[in-house]
Amino acid sequence: MAEVIDGKSVAEDVVQKVKALTAELSARGATRPGLAVVIVGEDPASQVYVASKSRTAKECGFLSLQHTLPAETTEEQLLKIIGDLNADPSVHGILVQLPLPGHIDSGKVIQTIAPEKDVDGFHFINVGKLGTGELETAFVPCTPAGSMLLIERVRGKDLSGLNAVVVGRSNIVGKPMANLLLAANCTVTIAHSRTKDLPALARTADILVAAVGRPEMVKGDWVKPGATVIDVGINRIPAPEKGEGKSRLVGDVAYAESAKVAGAITPVPGGVGPMTIAMLMANTVASAYLAAGLKRPSF
Ligand code: GUN
Repeated sequence: MAEVIDGKSVAEDVVQKVKALTAELSARGATRPGLAVVIVGEDPASQVYVASKSRTAKECGFLSLQHTLPAETTEEQLLKIIGDLNADPSVHGILVQLPLPGHIDSGKVIQTIAPEKDVDGFHFINVGKLGTGELETAFVPCTPAGSMLLIERVRGKDLSGLNAVVVGRSNIVGKPMANLLLAANCTVTIAHSRTKDLPALARTADILVAAVGRPEMVKGDWVKPGATVIDVGINRIPAPEKGEGKSRLVGDVAYAESAKVAGAITPVPGGVGPMTIAMLMANTVASAYLAAGLKRPSF
């Protein structure tokens, strides 16, 4: 049976380290890290995420600002708020929760965030830095950055000689994940909905990352014996066995059958999920260190 990778515990270690780094920053007389989270509209899932981000920021000792804006907010109004946050020296990280309402151009909003405050890692400058291997100064998107820490716990930092397959080519997870694995010397393949014979390709992977948003798509017989399996998916499916109208969370990997074959695997929930918010805190404290002219801490 595979080792179960405990994302909750690794995320807690990251948060503890962020707390210690925040205390050290104050001890050196620098400004404490500030994180501004902006949410537009009333999407219930987004509200839950944002509340959780603000709570963890406070727990880390950060200045935590939240802008909750009505769904009718214009693009111009939102861009003005971002401009003000860009200019505010007490703010080191700006996160605009996605998705935004349809009348707002998300791309334009993201590119308006100052790259040095872009703790989501979505600005072209940060995407370009990751793509060219400038990892010392890039902000890397939180979910792939967190997935990478989990992989390092199992395999170490140098992944030379290992084959990695990333299933999913999104800008938020698949592409940055592939770039991180490449920077760690993996041989990387990105698979997607047009890939031919995905099961056979997946079986070549020493490291298999699933980020497609399809419940339990990756089957046990797609997994190479001993592989490290990282499941980024969080899908809610009906669970009539728990009672009428009940549901449960599953990943993109059929967990029970894959855990029989893999060397190590992340569960859902409790795998990659908790890492995302922890890495947002890590990026924000890193931004505050850089703003204070100090060496960027590593995680
Ligand atoms: N919505 C879902 N995930 C994310 C994320 O990582 N960042 C932002 N800004 N919005 C999201």
